[in-house]
Amino acid sequence: MRGRSWDRVGCDVVQQQLAADVLTALGRSEGTAFLSRLDLRLPDLRAALESVYGEKMDVTGLCERAVRCALAAAAERPEELQLLDRRREVDPEWFQRLPVQGYVCYTERFCGRLADLPERVDYLAELGITYLHLMPLLQPRLGENDGGYAVTDYRAVDPRLGTMRDLEEVATALRTRDMSLCIDVVLNHTAREHQWAQGWLAGDPAYSDFYTAFPDRTMPDAYDATTPSVFPDRAPGSFTWVDAALDGAGGWVWTTFWPYQWDLNYANPDVLLAMLGEVLWLANRGIEIFRMDAVPFLWKRLGTNGMNQPEAHSIMQALNALVRLAAPATIFKAEAIVSPEDLVPYLGGHDRYRPECELAYHNQLMVMLWSSLATKDAELARRALGRMDPIPPGTSWVTYVRCHDDIGWAVSDTDAASLGWNGYTHRRFLNDFYSGRYDGSFARGALFQPNDINGDARISGTTAALCGIEDAFDTGDTAGLERGVRRLVLLYSVMYAFGGVPLLYMGDELALRNDRTYLADPALWADNRWMHRPWMDWPAAERRLDPATLEGRVFGWLQRLGSARRGVPALRGGADTALLDVGDSRVLAWRRRHPRTGSFVGLANFAEDEAGADLGALGGLGRDDAILCSDGALAVYDTWLRLPPLSFAWLAEP
Ligand code: GLC
Repeated sequence: MRGRSWDRVGCDVVQQQLAADVLTALGRSEGTAFLSRLDLRLPDLRAALESVYGEKMDVTGLCERAVRCALAAAAERPEELQLLDRRREVDPEWFQRLPVQGYVCYTERFCGRLADLPERVDYLAELGITYLHLMPLLQPRLGENDGGYAVTDYRAVDPRLGTMRDLEEVATALRTRDMSLCIDVVLNHTAREHQWAQGWLAGDPAYSDFYTAFPDRTMPDAYDATTPSVFPDRAPGSFTWVDAALDGAGGWVWTTFWPYQWDLNYANPDVLLAMLGEVLWLANRGIEIFRMDAVPFLWKRLGTNGMNQPEAHSIMQALNALVRLAAPATIFKAEAIVSPEDLVPYLGGHDRYRPECELAYHNQLMVMLWSSLATKDAELARRALGRMDPIPPGTSWVTYVRCHDDIGWAVSDTDAASLGWNGYTHRRFLNDFYSGRYDGSFARGALFQPNDINGDARISGTTAALCGIEDAFDTGDTAGLERGVRRLVLLYSVMYAFGGVPLLYMGDELALRNDRTYLADPALWADNRWMHRPWMDWPAAERRLDPATLEGRVFGWLQRLGSARRGVPALRGGADTALLDVGDSRVLAWRRRHPRTGSFVGLANFAEDEAGADLGALGGLGRDDAILCSDGALAVYDTWLRLPPLSFAWLAEP
C-alpha cells in the first residue's frame, strides 16, 4: 500500500495496520472504496478534531478510534445499501435533482403505525414526493417528551409506532419507489432516562463527563446571563436542579430545552464517538437523510448566546466525514434556526468550504414569506434574501412554508433599519398580526412562549390558519376563503421555485386547520405547537380530486406546482438565486440560472390589489415564457407585466 496519497497527508494515524484491517474487514473492492474515501476526507476529519480537542489531547488516537468505528459500521452495511452507496457516489448531487421533493409528517398522525405507511405511499406519489421526513420516532421517554425529541434509545423505535424492523421495511419500501427516508437525530441532548444519563448519574466511568452539572448557581448564572431561554414560560434558563447529580450531592444539570432533555457534553470526545455509533447504526437501517436537530447548541461558551460556536461546526464536520466513510449514500440536513449570517456556515460555507451538512432549512425565506404576506409588500424580503451569502455548490437549501415548530421572527435589525423600520417593532407587529390581535388580520395563530421580560414571542398555527383560510371557512366568508387559498398557493409558489428541496408539511396540501385535540392530552396541552401538528384528515383527503372543494383546489395547485417544477432545469439545486428589483416593491421577483440551462424568473405579488413587474427587469423573459401562473395568461400594459392581487407567475426559457 506504500505511496498511496492517504499515507502522505502526514497523518500518522492512518497506519499500515489500519489499511490492512480495512482490506481484511471489507474485502478488496469495498476496502479500496473505503480507503479512497478516507484519503479524501481524512484532512477534514483531522482538522475538525484538532480544532475541538487538539488543546487537550493528541488527536491521532482519537482519529484512529473514530475511523475504526466507521470501519465497523462499513463491515455491517447491508448489500442493498452498498449498492445505493455506489449510485450516490456516481451521482453525489442526487439531492439537487429536480424530482427531489419532500413531505414531512408524524407517523401516527399521518397513518397510524409504521406498518401502515407503505399503503399510503401512493398518496405521496400523487404529490410527486421522493423524500419522506418522518418526525421523531425513536424511543422517547414516557409522558412529556417534546414531541419525541427526548430520546431514551436511539436503536429502538417508539413501540406505539412499531419496531426497528418495521422502520427498515418502510425504508426499503420507499427505496423501491425511489424515495428516501429522513429521520431526526437528536444530537444535543438525550432524555434523562437514557442509559448514558443514568450511567452518568450512577458514576459509571464509561459515561463520566457525558453531561454537565454544577454544584451551585455560580456558573449557571454566568451562562444564563447571556444565553436566551428557549422555552421561557415553563423552562426559563438552561439548567435544572437534579438531586442525584454529582454523586448524590445534587447539581445544576445543563438542560437547554426542557428539564428532562439533558445536554450532552461534546467537550468529551467519547460523547462524539458514542453519537457517531448511533448515527452509523441508523444509517445501516436504511435512513438516507438525517435531520440533525438543534445543531447550533452543541457547544457552550461563557459570555456568548451559546449558539453557532466554531466547535459546533467542527463537530458536524467530523461527523459528516465519518458517516460518509461508512455510508456514503447518507446526507445531513442541519436544523439551525438562526439569523441569516449564521445559517450558511451550516452548509460548510466558511472562509473556506468545509463539508458539513448537505442540506439546511432556509429559515430566512420562510420568515420573509410570512412577513411579506402580513405587510403585503416584498421589499424587506428582497433586501434580506438578497444580501445572504451564496451557498457552496454541492449543497442545497430545503425550503418550507411551515414545519412542526413555531415561527420565530428572524428579522434582522439591519434589514429592518434599511427600510427605516425598527426591528423590534416589526417583530412585535408580526406576532400581533399572526395571533389575530392586529386589527384587520386574517390570521388565526397563537403566541408561543411569550416572554414577559423582553416582549419576545413566536407564532403557532397551521398554514391554512395563518393564511386566513380557517377564519373565512368558519365564518362562511367566500371572498375571504378565496383570498386565503391564494395566499397559501402564493407562499408555496415561491417556496417550490426559490431553489432547493421543497418540503411540504403534512396537511398543507389539504389546507388543514388548527387542531385543538392536544388540549385534552396532559402530555401535550401546555405546548401549543401541537395546534399545527394536526391528525391527517383522510375523509378530507378523499375530496382532493374534486376541484370544487377547498381540499381539491389546494391539492391541485400543489400537484401543478410540483409537476411544473420538475420540468424546469433551472430549478435544480446547485444554481444561484438572484433577487430582482422589478420596480414594484409589492412583488417578490427572483431569477435562477443553471450553467446548463436557460433562466427562470419567479414573480409573486403579495399585495391584495394589482401590482406590476417592469419587463425590462426580467432578463429578457416575458409574457410568452410563462409556464405556470395563478390566473392564466399574463396581461401586459405598456412595459409592465400585470400581476393580479395575490398572484404568482413562473417564467422560464426552455
Ligand atoms: C428542535 C425541534 C424542536 C425541539 C427542539 C429540542 O428545535 O425542531 O421541536 O423542541 O429541537 O429538541
